[in-house]
Amino acid sequence: MRQALRIFAVVLAVSLGCSLVVTSAAVLLKERQARNLRLDKIEHLLAAAGIAAEPDADPLQIFKTRIQALLVDLDRGRPADPKDLGIADPAAFDLRAASRDPTLGEAIPKALDLAGIKRRPRYMPVYLVRDGQAFSRLILPIYGRGLWSTLYGYLALERDLITVAGITFYEHKETPGLGGEVDNPRWKALWRGKQAFDAQGQVAIEVIKGQVDPARPEAVHQVDGLSGATLTTRGVDRLVRYWLGSQGYGPFLAWLRNHLNSLPALDE
Ligand SMILES: Cc1cc2nc3c(=O)[nH]c(=O)nc-3n(C[C@H](O)[C@H](O)[C@H](O)COP(=O)(O)O)c2cc1C
Repeated sequence: MRQALRIFAVVLAVSLGCSLVVTSAAVLLKERQARNLRLDKIEHLLAAAGIAAEPDADPLQIFKTRIQALLVDLDRGRPADPKDLGIADPAAFDLRAASRDPTLGEAIPKALDLAGIKRRPRYMPVYLVRDGQAFSRLILPIYGRGLWSTLYGYLALERDLITVAGITFYEHKETPGLGGEVDNPRWKALWRGKQAFDAQGQVAIEVIKGQVDPARPEAVHQVDGLSGATLTTRGVDRLVRYWLGSQGYGPFLAWLRNHLNSLPALDE
């Protein structure tokens, strides 16, 4: 009987000890995981704008010194004051949580839901890249449905707010080698220099099925589709056009074109 009790006590102690180790590892790693995710997002954001982090440069430091995050009211098409919404840092704005929130988010009517996201935040963070105080590029968070997953990424525009500076996706679950080729640097490079809007200011960028014929005049707006991944291609085409259009950043881009010379200073 005494021996049974002793065995029981040892088993109890070992299991308590083990669960303590597992729990504390989970808690400690959670914090590190969150930090790594944030760092990964920042690296993708900088890469979209063509700001290559030098081997020993700290992406967080580059982000702090060269990037200005603004929170944009999508319907009004102009910056909103994050404090009015109880948001401390627009760069830490959680798109998913905001789109689900009854006041920060709203349902998208089916006919307008080109990106297949059902709901959207009423506000989105956007990122102004500065060279000194001069505005040089604009980075826009974008997301929408692919085949297996929602793709989250960034599209950057040059100072003219027309020419694409770059695109990156920091999260998706498309198939490696098929839809996962959205991460292929060669494919991402095809976006650079494309004209997102036509002469009338309408969204004109498109990801086509197959390869772009460079001899055609519309080639300046077109990007090759991913071979064997028509559905991911269509998803990327639609999500980019959704976010650049009137339901996305369209009204803000119109406002920004008129305010490029009166932007708040970087350290304000
Ligand atoms: C295991 C598996 C994974 C696939 N993953 C993707 C994918 O990530 N993206 C995609 O568009 N199509 C994917 N497909 C292919 C689609 O089912 C579909 O056939 C394809 O989009 C059609 O493209 P195509 O007309 O270029 O062949 C996958 C198919 C299989 C069998």
